[in-house]
Order: sequence, then structure tokens, then C-alpha cells
Amino acid sequence: MNNIKEEASNTSYSSFAKLLHWGFVVLFVYGIIKQVDSITQLEDNALLRFEVLFALAFLLLLAVRFIYVKKTQRSSLPEETPKMQKLAAKLVHYGMYACLAGIAGSGLLIGFLYGQGFESGLLIDSVIGLHELSVSLIYWLIGVHIVAAVYHRFLKDGVWSSMVPVFKEQNKES
Ligand code: HEM
Ligand code: HEM
Repeated sequence: MNNIKEEASNTSYSSFAKLLHWGFVVLFVYGIIKQVDSITQLEDNALLRFEVLFALAFLLLLAVRFIYVKKTQRSSLPEETPKMQKLAAKLVHYGMYACLAGIAGSGLLIGFLYGQGFESGLLIDSVIGLHELSVSLIYWLIGVHIVAAVYHRFLKDGVWSSMVPVFKEQNKES
């Protein structure tokens, strides 16, 4: 069984965890690039179907990632990291998961409502508002996440190299 919760701090993520992390970066960027610019675009049935399938696959993979990471991996923050910093990292990580699920979930709801004939009005406008809010929020969280990752690269405490395959720091063998 591979259900190993590493007890030692500062370990690297597994190859599968890295694949999921970086795969999601690609998937998310793709989702942003091909975003719906206006609700009227959903008149195109092929686009509507594609958006819904994309969001379903996105949600499914996100669930797989979340369960896998929670069951088998742990943060690579060193044991001696201040409690507040550990809490902040946890909040940002959970926040990003919540936003990713919120974006795909609200997108699916938009698709469902549109399919039911709601093309405008308070209900669909509110769900679109939620969709856009999740997008704005995750931009901020990703910004904080990247700044924190770069900060750890300067600290050379192993956090950067546990996930990022480039600009790795030298191993402090002691
Ligand atoms: C769409 C953009 C990104 C998202 C949504 C994201 C999300 C996450 C999440 C949720 C984790 C916790 C582990 C996991 O559940 O997989 C994590 C870990 C990590 N990410 Fe990202 N990430 C993004 C981009 C980046 C980028 C661009 C970098 C580096 C420049 C980076 C560096 C790291 C590092 C170093 C960790 C390990 C942190 C730790 O163990 O506490 N991430 N990321
Ligand atoms: C993971 C999947 C999805 C991603 C990453 C995504 C991403 C985005 C982004 C970045 C925006 C622009 C937000 C802004 O300008 O503040 C947006 C807007 C929107 N999205 Fe999505 N979306 C997804 C799924 C869906 C789905 C499934 C639907 C409906 C079938 C949908 C319908 C819309 C609509 C109607 C808007 C608002 C357009 C407007 O400004 O009027 N999205 N989406």
C-alpha cells in the first residue's frame, strides 16, 4: 500500500503529486485562455457542450488530486516553520482548491441554467457573479502562492525543490 504519510518534514512530493500540480497549472491556464467572453456565446451548442465536459473533467481530476494529496502527501514546510506561516500556507492551499472547485462548479451551474432557458435575470447573473468572483480570488491566491514559493527558494529550505523541477537549490546534506 502506498498510503505513506511522511513523518519527516521537508520531504519531496511524489512524481504523481508533481504531475497533478503541474498538469493543473496547464489545465487552468488553458481554461483561462479559452474562457467564455459573453453569455451569448453559449448559443453555440458545440461550445456549450465542450465547456460543460471540460468543467466535469476538471472537477473529477480535482477530486482525484485532492484525495490523493490529502491521503499520501504532506507539506514540505520545515518542522520549525512558525505556526502562523503553516496556517497561512494551509489557507492558501485550501483556498485554491475551493476556488478551482467553485469556478468549475459555478460554470456547470451556468451551463445547466442556460440549458433550462435562463439567459438573463437575477439567478443566472448571480451565478455568473460567483463564477467571476472565484476567478478573481484565485488570481490573488496564486499570486501569494508564487511569491511564497519564490521566498522559500531564497530561504533554500527545500520547499521550492519539493515541487518545482527547475532552479533547484543544492541539497544541504548534513
Ligand atoms: C495554477 C497555479 C497553481 C495552483 C492552483 C497551485 C496549487 C498548489 C497546491 C494546492 C499546493 C499544495 C499541494 C497540492 O495539493 O498539490 C501547491 C504546492 C506547491 N506549489 Fe503550487 N500551485 C500553482 C502554481 C505554482 C507555481 C507557478 C509554483 C512555483 C513557481 C508553485 C510552487 C509550489 C510549491 C513549491 C509547493 C509546495 C508547498 C508546500 O509544500 O507547502 N505552484 N500548489
Ligand atoms: C474549469 C472550467 C472553467 C474555467 C477555468 C472558466 C474560466 C472563466 C473565466 C476566466 C472567465 C472570465 C471571468 C472574468 O472576466 O472575471 C469566465 C467567465 C464566464 N464563464 Fe467560465 N470557466 C469555466 C467553465 C465554464 C462553464 C462550464 C460555463 C458555462 C457553460 C462558463 C460560462 C462562463 C460565462 C457565461 C462567463 C461570463 C462571461 C461574461 O463576462 O459575460 N464557464 N470563465
